[in-house]
Amino acid sequence: MSPLLHARDVTKTFGRTQALRGASLTIEAGEVVAISGPSGSGKSTLLHCLAGIVTPDEGEIHYGETRLDELDEDARTRLRREAFGIVFQFGGLVPELTAEENVAVSLMFGGAGRAEASETAREWLDRVGVGDCASLRPGELSGGQAQRVALARALATEPTVVFADEPTGALDSVAGEEVLGLLLGVARERGATVVLVTHDNRIAAFADREVVVRDGVVTEVPAVTR
Ligand SMILES: Nc1ncnc2c1ncn2[C@@H]1O[C@H](COP(=O)(O)OP(=O)(O)OP(=O)(O)O)[C@@H](O)[C@H]1O
Ligand SMILES: [Mg+2]
Repeated sequence: MSPLLHARDVTKTFGRTQALRGASLTIEAGEVVAISGPSGSGKSTLLHCLAGIVTPDEGEIHYGETRLDELDEDARTRLRREAFGIVFQFGGLVPELTAEENVAVSLMFGGAGRAEASETAREWLDRVGVGDCASLRPGELSGGQAQRVALARALATEPTVVFADEPTGALDSVAGEEVLGLLLGVARERGATVVLVTHDNRIAAFADREVVVRDGVVTEVPAVTR
C-alpha cells in the first residue's frame, strides 16, 4: 500500500532564498506527525507543498496514488476542499466574514446548504470553545480566539488530512494543550491524519512521530531522544 502523503526530494526557491533543498517526508494514513525546526528552516513551505498550496520547483508530492504537484490549479483546489483541512500559521480567516461565516463557507464549498452550514459551524465553534464569538469578525478576535476559529474551520469539513501550522502559537501552554487535545481527539476518533508544525517540544511530544526541518531538509527524530 502506498503511503498517504509523500514528499520526495522537494526543492523550492523564493527569489534568492532556498526554502527547501531536497526535502523528503513520508506519512502513513492515520499518523500524527509533528514537524519542528528553527524559524525560517522551511517548515511552512514544506507543509504548503504537502497540502498542494505551493508547487515545488523540483521533486514530487504524492497524495495516495495522485501526483499532487502535477495537478492543475482547479483539480488541486478541489482535492484540498474535499480532503484537506488547513490551519494556517497566521490564521488565514477572511476578515470581512464573521467567525461563523468563516467556518460555514468552507462547508458550503463542500456542498452544504446555507442553513446546514451555519448550524454545523456553530457546533464546531462551541466545541473549540469560541461559541460566543460566532458573530465577531477576525479583527475583533484575540489571537487565541482566531486560532480556535481557524481550527474549527479546518475540522468542520471532516477532512482526511489536517494540516496545522503552529495551531497553538498564540495560546498559553494550558490553552495550547487544550486546543491540541481537541484537534488530536477529533483526528484519532475519525482516523484522520495530522501534520502539525510546532516549535514547542511539549506539543510535538503528543505526536506519533517527530521530524525536524533544518536548512530546507527533513531529518527524523529517533524515538529514544524524544
Ligand atoms: N512567499 C515567500 N516569498 C519569499 N520568501 C519566502 C516565502 N515563503 C517563505 N519564504 C522564505 O523561505 C524560508 C523558509 O520559510 P518558511 O516560512 O517555510 O519557514 P518556517 O520554518 O515556517 O519559519 P517560522 O518558524 O518562522 O514560521 C524563509 O527564509 C522565508 O523568508
Ligand atoms: Mg512557518
